[in-house]
Amino acid sequence: MTATVASAPETAETQRLPGFFTPVTADFEAANGLILEQMHSRVPLVEKIGHYIIAGGGKRLRPLVVLLTARALGYDGERHRDLATIIEFLHTATLLHDDVVDASDLRRGRSTANAVFGNAPSVLVGDFLYSRAFERMVDIGSMRVMELLSHATNVIAEGEVMQLANVRNPELTEPDYMEVIRCKTAMLFEVSSHSAAVLAGASQEDEENLRRYGLHLGLAFQLIDDLLDYDGDSGTLGKNVGDDLDEGKTTLPLIHAMRHGTDEQSALVRGAIRRNGRDQLSAVLTVLRDTDALTYTRQAAEKQIDIALDCLKNLPESTYRTALEDLARFSIRRAH
Ligand code: IPE
Ligand code: IPE
Ligand code: MG
Ligand code: MG
Repeated sequence: MTATVASAPETAETQRLPGFFTPVTADFEAANGLILEQMHSRVPLVEKIGHYIIAGGGKRLRPLVVLLTARALGYDGERHRDLATIIEFLHTATLLHDDVVDASDLRRGRSTANAVFGNAPSVLVGDFLYSRAFERMVDIGSMRVMELLSHATNVIAEGEVMQLANVRNPELTEPDYMEVIRCKTAMLFEVSSHSAAVLAGASQEDEENLRRYGLHLGLAFQLIDDLLDYDGDSGTLGKNVGDDLDEGKTTLPLIHAMRHGTDEQSALVRGAIRRNGRDQLSAVLTVLRDTDALTYTRQAAEKQIDIALDCLKNLPESTYRTALEDLARFSIRRAH
């Protein structure tokens, strides 16, 4: 996606957005305006770093899930715009922290905030964004939404710590890997659709279906992210390919390769995980190819999307529901 909507309403920008943004164009533009507006701080460095990462763009998929879910359930107020803004703040905070933890230097096609401003300012501005998100949550005025969002934030932090505890651990199993990605990534997608359903006053059944839609979309999203880390193009992705191996992250492509490779191939992958071996990247890529590890990972993501689509089948037909379906399909087709 070339669209990097970083500023308030701009028709030219909006026109470049994929079709699944169209049903909520006005809401989306409003939420984008709020994202910039609510970044306000009397401390200049906060605004500088906040604007730096926000202006870097980003796909804004989580706010889109909020907006589409609320409308798909017949919500006709405007509070979902605030919810979308809060969710993007939480996401941005996780990115600031994640790039410090992963020592990443490229994000959204530009140097990461930690590379430009340093680790300490990035962590502190991440904290600012989390706490600003919580201030705004209070304004939404729903204890239930507050409860869901605060729990999700807690689970995401656990997910990142779980991942950290498994760095350079080639023994991580597929179920344990799935639990890490459920927490660190899928949880935010899950709470996006779930909290929007609550805000819309959905029935128990719709609420549960939409929660599960977000969960399975989020799992697929991280599976593809982990695939693209081996199979993507840094220019298109706006992030460095090969970072996961460098960081000693045991992701599904590697787990599959270790399981299905020859003893020699498994040992090579194991060694690369233990030593954070970027220098082993091309040898690892050969093993991934020989064991069809990327195909396996893609198929795992496709299965998640089949479940996500199934969760939408009882919703009344609408352009919002179609957009949620298209967004799910996009998440496994994407190259960025
Ligand atoms: C990046 O998420 C972090 C992951 C969960 C993989 P996105 O790919 O949605 O990041 P932006 O917001 O579009 O940059
Ligand atoms: C993303 O995990 C999880 C969060 C941001 C919480 P990654 O470390 O794979 O994300 P990227 O690849 O840096 O975007
Ligand atoms: Mg990272
Ligand atoms: Mg990644």
